[in-house]
Amino acid sequence: MNRRWLIAKPLDGRLSEANFRWTESPVPPLADGQFLVRNRWLSVDPTQALVLRAGDPPGSKAPIGECPWSLAVSEVIESRHPEFSPGNLVHGEMAWEDYTCSDGTGFNPAYRVPDGVPLNWAAGVLGLTGLVAYFGLHEVGRAKSGETFVISGAGGGVGSIASQLAKIEGLRVIGIVGSPAKSDWLVREAGADAAINYRTEDVAGRLNDLCPDGIDIFFDTVGGPTLPIALGRLRNGGRVVLCGITSQYLSDAPAPGPSNLVQLIMVHGRMEGFLGRDFIPRRTEAFEAMVPLLRSGRLKSKEDVRTGLREAPNALARLLAGENVGKQLVQMDEPHVG
Ligand SMILES: NC(=O)c1ccc[n+]([C@@H]2O[C@H](COP(=O)([O-])OP(=O)(O)OC[C@H]3O[C@@H](n4cnc5c(N)ncnc54)[C@H](OP(=O)(O)O)[C@@H]3O)[C@@H](O)[C@H]2O)c1
Repeated sequence: MNRRWLIAKPLDGRLSEANFRWTESPVPPLADGQFLVRNRWLSVDPTQALVLRAGDPPGSKAPIGECPWSLAVSEVIESRHPEFSPGNLVHGEMAWEDYTCSDGTGFNPAYRVPDGVPLNWAAGVLGLTGLVAYFGLHEVGRAKSGETFVISGAGGGVGSIASQLAKIEGLRVIGIVGSPAKSDWLVREAGADAAINYRTEDVAGRLNDLCPDGIDIFFDTVGGPTLPIALGRLRNGGRVVLCGITSQYLSDAPAPGPSNLVQLIMVHGRMEGFLGRDFIPRRTEAFEAMVPLLRSGRLKSKEDVRTGLREAPNALARLLAGENVGKQLVQMDEPHVG
């Protein structure tokens, strides 16, 4: 039998387990061109909340009765697909269930996990989260040693990796976070130069003190009021990396735009959005750079792990409440046999 969560109620305010319904149903049959996986690790991502919202995209209904999608690291157990064989470990778009039938396509196409890496790394620091951090920093941010790097959501999945990579590259790193636990981890363990708690501190004032010569790169994972503050402090030739807008995912209010875009003109600045999926074909570059760093301990895979499929809704709720430190993951437990 396949244990699954189904969407029971559209999102209205705070997400909780009540938005989902637990079921068991037969393992789905395999069609030509598909492979069947047993899901081993689920990546928990803020955009999963968007699926539960009625009217997003406009006019659509929340997909009641569907199993929520999830990026996952999974083991192929049966295959009628030319590229995936039983025993392969894949990273791809699966769902909150024990077994998923996939054809390997989707917004984030499936790929084989590099040989010999722990599955928790494959789901997080070497999953889409790590690709976003790595290519956001290097390709979009064009990071250079000695520059000043400011990042929002610095204690989360993408943020914890991008902050460390920037520090390893010799940048000065200032992370904006939402809790003392994240501040502590960022400065004491990730080696950031400073952390600003946006819930308790004056972000603009602290940035003035910490970046008297301005910001070279602002890596934005949350959107909202921090963006205009950072824009106003961008140095000549500065870059804004638009990675995500977590602060807007649960909000029905229209997102306020930055009122000071003129600053990009004044400092010859550049603001660029990007999608991690675009870099999946180049993932080996990131793996070759990051695996040795991980193995040597210079790059730490900071993870917040919940155990068991039952925990998936709670893990997503934790993430949206900012309770995770590092990458939020769910390690799957044993499915039923028979
Ligand atoms: N471009 C892409 O292809 C791509 C791919 C993957 C992820 N992303 C985006 O990257 C961002 C980070 O993803 P992640 O998986 O690493 O998640 P994460 O940062 O681990 O978790 C989300 C964090 O956002 C913060 N947050 C929540 N509500 C907030 C609010 N109202 N205002 C400010 N901060 C808030 C919380 O941290 P605090 O405690 O600090 O508030 C929370 O821990 C997301 O926006 C995600 O959609 C983009």
